[in-house]
Amino acid sequence: MEAEKVDEIIDRHPAKQEVLIQLLLDMQNEFNWIPKQAILRINERLQIPLSQIYRVASFYKAMSLTPRGKHIVNVCLGTACHVRGGPRIMDKVEESLKIKAGKTTQDMKFTLERVNCLGCCALGPVIVVDKDYYGNVTTAKVKEILESYD
Ligand code: FES
Repeated sequence: MEAEKVDEIIDRHPAKQEVLIQLLLDMQNEFNWIPKQAILRINERLQIPLSQIYRVASFYKAMSLTPRGKHIVNVCLGTACHVRGGPRIMDKVEESLKIKAGKTTQDMKFTLERVNCLGCCALGPVIVVDKDYYGNVTTAKVKEILESYD
């Protein structure tokens, strides 16, 4: 099934090296990460060297070479959020999800990441789930926020 989807995405683009970034972004959007199978298939069908595909896929933050959860939780630990209790929020999120930053829950629901500033320091501490920003987060609010995602 995944192989068919990979081929379908490749078929949407002209078979040229120039489409590599868009192709990888489409793979990322479809699978939430870029499976090795997709990389091998791009290599085979478009004759793009594996080293080049891996270089591009590991350069862009929007792309991941490891499986990611359905929801991405970013906890800000930049200076402003740090002094406003960011580390306590991170501890609480880690405890609630039972994973450490950089990891994905076993049910593939959440990936937890730390960031160094989200550009809204006055709202600190801040967490972002997917594209939803939450400011002035308290440890008491963490569970409620996470439970609002299915
Ligand atoms: S330090 Fe957290 S938003 Fe800037």
